[in-house]
Amino acid sequence: MLEVRGLSVRYDSVIAALEGIDFAASEGRIVALLGPNGAGKSTLLKAVAGMLPFEQGEISAGRVEFGGVSLKGKHPAAITRAGIALVQDGRQCFRNLTVGENLRAASFRHAEGSAERLELVLSYFPILGEFYERPAGFLSGGQLQMLVIGMALMLQPRLLLLDEPSLGLSPVMVQSVFAIVERLHEELGMSVIVAEQTVPRLMEIADDVYVLSRGQVALHAPPQAISEDDLQRLYLS
Ligand SMILES: Nc1ncnc2c1ncn2[C@@H]1O[C@H](COP(=O)(O)OP(=O)(O)OP(=O)(O)O)[C@@H](O)[C@H]1O
Ligand SMILES: [Mg+2]
Repeated sequence: MLEVRGLSVRYDSVIAALEGIDFAASEGRIVALLGPNGAGKSTLLKAVAGMLPFEQGEISAGRVEFGGVSLKGKHPAAITRAGIALVQDGRQCFRNLTVGENLRAASFRHAEGSAERLELVLSYFPILGEFYERPAGFLSGGQLQMLVIGMALMLQPRLLLLDEPSLGLSPVMVQSVFAIVERLHEELGMSVIVAEQTVPRLMEIADDVYVLSRGQVALHAPPQAISEDDLQRLYLS
């Protein structure tokens, strides 16, 4: 479904963030993208979603294809239309707009069927229905994470990219977020790539794991084949 070959990314023409990455995500899979701070996880997700130009980043080599079609040089809106939605880290939304306004704004370019999608989002995240008229700025970190995932679902993606959804959340909230990721995968057949530093729960639900280190793939294996020791060694190296 998603195929990345020999991908290199530079920021400001000099900072090499990724060096010749091979990465793939098959239809209907959950892929964990692990690695320490600065490994290149967010850069890989931004390269797929077409977000690099907004940060003076560029693909300097390699290819990125979705369903056999190149995404290189495409505008993020076109990539979204192709079926990919990125939930960036930082839980970006309009904090002074209500939960409902944020959800509706997310699909303003994608109006057809948005009423049904809103219903679906509220069925996955009942808390967003409860707080529908409340400004997003009043939500807790976990509720905001649910809102931004809900906003991505308003785009009806086939491939959902989540960048560190567990950051700063309580263990209970982390469990809830991953339970929803698992349901999206099982019930809607959605493919998901989740970037995280380490989350044991993610290792339980992932079909495939990539560990990045200093802009390269240090390890690619099924989760059962990766031990805590492997990760520690890679993270400390
Ligand atoms: N906008 C930018 N401009 C310049 N360099 C950047 C930019 N964004 C990232 N980098 C650099 O690219 C490298 C990879 O960063 P990236 O954010 O992809 O890592 P990450 O694995 O997501 O880390 P974290 O776990 O801290 O989020 C780092 O060396 C970082 O300093
Ligand atoms: Mg990151």
